[in-house]
Amino acid sequence: MSKAGKARVVQFPLAKKRGEPSTLLKRALNMREGGVAHKNPDRFSRARFLRSEPYRSRSAFKLIDLEQRFALCREKRRIVDLGAAPGGWTQVAAEAAPKSSVLAVDKKPIEPFSDPRIRVLRCDLEDEEEATSLPARAIEELGGKAGLVLCDVAPNTLGLSRLDNAMFAVLVTGLLPVVEGLLEEGGDWVVKIRHSAEEKELWKRVNEMFGEIRAVRSVASRRGANEIYWVARGFRAAK
Ligand SMILES: C[S@@+](CC[C@H](N)C(=O)[O-])C[C@H]1O[C@@H](n2cnc3c(N)ncnc32)[C@H](O)[C@@H]1O
Repeated sequence: MSKAGKARVVQFPLAKKRGEPSTLLKRALNMREGGVAHKNPDRFSRARFLRSEPYRSRSAFKLIDLEQRFALCREKRRIVDLGAAPGGWTQVAAEAAPKSSVLAVDKKPIEPFSDPRIRVLRCDLEDEEEATSLPARAIEELGGKAGLVLCDVAPNTLGLSRLDNAMFAVLVTGLLPVVEGLLEEGGDWVVKIRHSAEEKELWKRVNEMFGEIRAVRSVASRRGANEIYWVARGFRAAK
């Protein structure tokens, strides 16, 4: 079978392949991913490479996993993706929710999508003014509040694990009013977090905002990565 023929049958989840990827594959992954490929491509990087229309990021497989387990996107009409660049999660959300409009938000520019249901907004979520005005801008773009907010935001890290981990909790804590402004009653929120000393207090606050919250690991997270997702469902808007 030709390589192109093989590419069409690759589906998620992939069976684990034995052995190291070939040098050729590593080189190809590097070319395909603009030279930022992880030094040890795994089955998810391979899946990206082998798909004839690859997702924009390896992270896309994390949301595919969460979607398969929790059906987060499929019934939603309006979805906001915070920290969306380069846009893998946005692609997955739009694919999984065929009736949705999706707004991709990031401080970095995001290449436009060919799908007209997807819009892009530039916003630095750590800038108070920009973050405060985001809900109104998003509601205008989407025509209403969101049923789902995705948040794969990753702050710039320093390589000092305790501080870096705390930065996730600090950033996410700062996002709580933004999420409150974005979500409709009963809406859901998926947010990336790292285990840290600050996590417990944040969990308490998120737990008060939602009917249910659970911490899950994605099968697509790299082995050993201190990365979990909180799936918070049933937003209770303040009366
Ligand atoms: C792990 S990447 C997201 C990958 C994305 N989920 C995907 O599948 O393509 C984290 C993103 O968070 C964004 N980010 C970090 N700090 C931010 C901020 N203050 N405001 C907006 N976006 C931010 C980064 O620019 C980066 O694009």
